[in-house]
Amino acid sequence: MKTIIANWKMNVGVRESVALARGTLLTLRGRKHIPELVICPPFVALSEVRKIVARSAAALGAQNVFWAESGSYTGEVSARMLEELGVTHVIIGHSERRQFLSETDEMVNKKTYHALASGLTPIVCVGEGRAERRAGTAQEVVGEQLKRALSGVRLRASDHLLIAYEPVWAIGTGEPASVSEMLPMHAFIRSLVQELLGPHGASQTRVLYGGSVNGENAYAFLREEEVDGVLVGSASVKINQFKDIVHAACEVLEAQTL
Ligand code: PGA
Repeated sequence: MKTIIANWKMNVGVRESVALARGTLLTLRGRKHIPELVICPPFVALSEVRKIVARSAAALGAQNVFWAESGSYTGEVSARMLEELGVTHVIIGHSERRQFLSETDEMVNKKTYHALASGLTPIVCVGEGRAERRAGTAQEVVGEQLKRALSGVRLRASDHLLIAYEPVWAIGTGEPASVSEMLPMHAFIRSLVQELLGPHGASQTRVLYGGSVNGENAYAFLREEEVDGVLVGSASVKINQFKDIVHAACEVLEAQTL
């Protein structure tokens, strides 16, 4: 199976989200083998987008969650509130939140823990900066982020975990990692997950790539067995681009069944 996450970020309002959700679902039409598709609109559009994805094969994701169930946390949203809106997935620790909102590994850990406890599937984002890649410390940085994010986390039989490897220098830059740059990181993440969560946990964890994925390069990532899917930002709000990404995944899945 391949998973495609559409992270619309803060790029679309409610009305645009509704139109985009319709267009996004059309990309699946007529395909026999389709990827798992998770649409992550801004919070304010979740309930309208839910109405559109409700009868489709797509799932609904949020872009953030808080770690408490309820209480005096102005501006925050709990997993239970998201579930009420039909949300099944949540992006946690995106590099933009780490950069602009000072989200730390400890916060990522609490959110991951809380999301799992509430039955949501976390999409935990990790990735090194450009200077760290140049200095040759990318694995060390990603390893540390992952260890902290998953500290104390245990997956129950029904839990799923998605980890998105998103090199910060590749996000929104039009400069994706090359397949030869990202594959060793995927292998490293997988072996670390095995160590941290055990063989059962590892079998319930999928590793995605994110960072300037577009209609032209998606196939090169998705055809790799190590790559369970892609997390798409900018190209997920451009329906022609996104269609090509979805179709690339369909082709990979169809080729697997031949
Ligand atoms: P991008 O964003 O596809 O625009 O690089 C990816 C992400 O932020 O998850």
